[in-house]
Amino acid sequence: MDRFLTADDLEKALRQDVMDGLTGEPKSLPPKWFYDERGSALFEEITQLAEYYPTRCERAIIAERAPEIAVATRADTLLELGAGSGEKTRLLLDAFDAFDGTLGEYVPVDVSGDFLVAAADQIAGDYPALAVRAVVADYEQHLHLLPTGGRRLIAFLGGTIGNMMPAKRIGFLQGLRATMAPGDTLLFGADLVKEKARLVRAYDDALGVTAEFNRNVLHVINDRLGGDFVPEAYEHVAVWDAGNEWIEMRLRSTVDQVVRIEVLDLTVRFAEGEEMRTEISSKFRMERLSAELEAAKLTLDRCWTDADGDFSLVLAAPAA
Ligand code: SAH
Ligand code: AVI
Repeated sequence: MDRFLTADDLEKALRQDVMDGLTGEPKSLPPKWFYDERGSALFEEITQLAEYYPTRCERAIIAERAPEIAVATRADTLLELGAGSGEKTRLLLDAFDAFDGTLGEYVPVDVSGDFLVAAADQIAGDYPALAVRAVVADYEQHLHLLPTGGRRLIAFLGGTIGNMMPAKRIGFLQGLRATMAPGDTLLFGADLVKEKARLVRAYDDALGVTAEFNRNVLHVINDRLGGDFVPEAYEHVAVWDAGNEWIEMRLRSTVDQVVRIEVLDLTVRFAEGEEMRTEISSKFRMERLSAELEAAKLTLDRCWTDADGDFSLVLAAPAA
């Protein structure tokens, strides 16, 4: 296991983000802080919900296309950003196995260290011929430190690319492209624009799992920074922003309240009804995706969708 992020680095980054986010106007927090062990487990629960279509759609595309991906990429290393449980990735690993066993190494990368290591251990147990090297890192900061060499397939699944603000996303693609050598490929999932009601339901499920996932960021601040947030005093909000074509998750303070974050020596007031943004989840159209790839000097090689056209999986390579 490689750790580019120690517990200290993580806490430092969290401190900075919370200080900036809670003193900004309007208040906001970056989505990466949802994911401690509880947050990662809650996300896994979300992926099983009837309303949350992206995981099922992406799994269906991968199940159909994995053999083609193995043949087209002939990768030696599968490097996966924001790997989570790596559950859908197993379909890719199986396809590489069936192809001719060119794939020798799996490198899952995630900021949620304990969850990552447990998932990587399970994959190592189930694929004994594969070298599994878990890397605890922030893909927004550490792309240049990730292993290079051989033919790498870089996977970024789940539609997580949509959780970055557009300017950050373009910088991220450019940074990723800069680490790619000829023969490397990028496989990423992107959720597509669709009917508003379905989008909102996917982010505001009837069982309230997404609400709990959203509030988990408050638990993380309480645990790691000595905060005294009362998570139940914040309502989960999911709205479709038609102009930006993204779902926005927010936490709305249900009362006028004051919060103390001990480690930051910070006291913050939330007015009743005040909303704090905790995540955007951008939904794409093909034209925008190809334009962004082109701007990052990546060539769109193949693009598949599920049968209903809800979700897309894109294979791209460095432009010549
Ligand atoms: N790829 C999986 C998980 C998606 S959830 C799937 O398709 O189901 C998003 C994952 O990205 C989480 O595991 C989270 O811990 C990780 N993540 C979020 N921000 C990150 C960052 N900045 N650096 C590394 N991992 C991050
Ligand atoms: C990880 N990411 C792609 C998820 C999404 O759909 O934007 C995170 C999530 N937020 C709420 N539900 C799921």
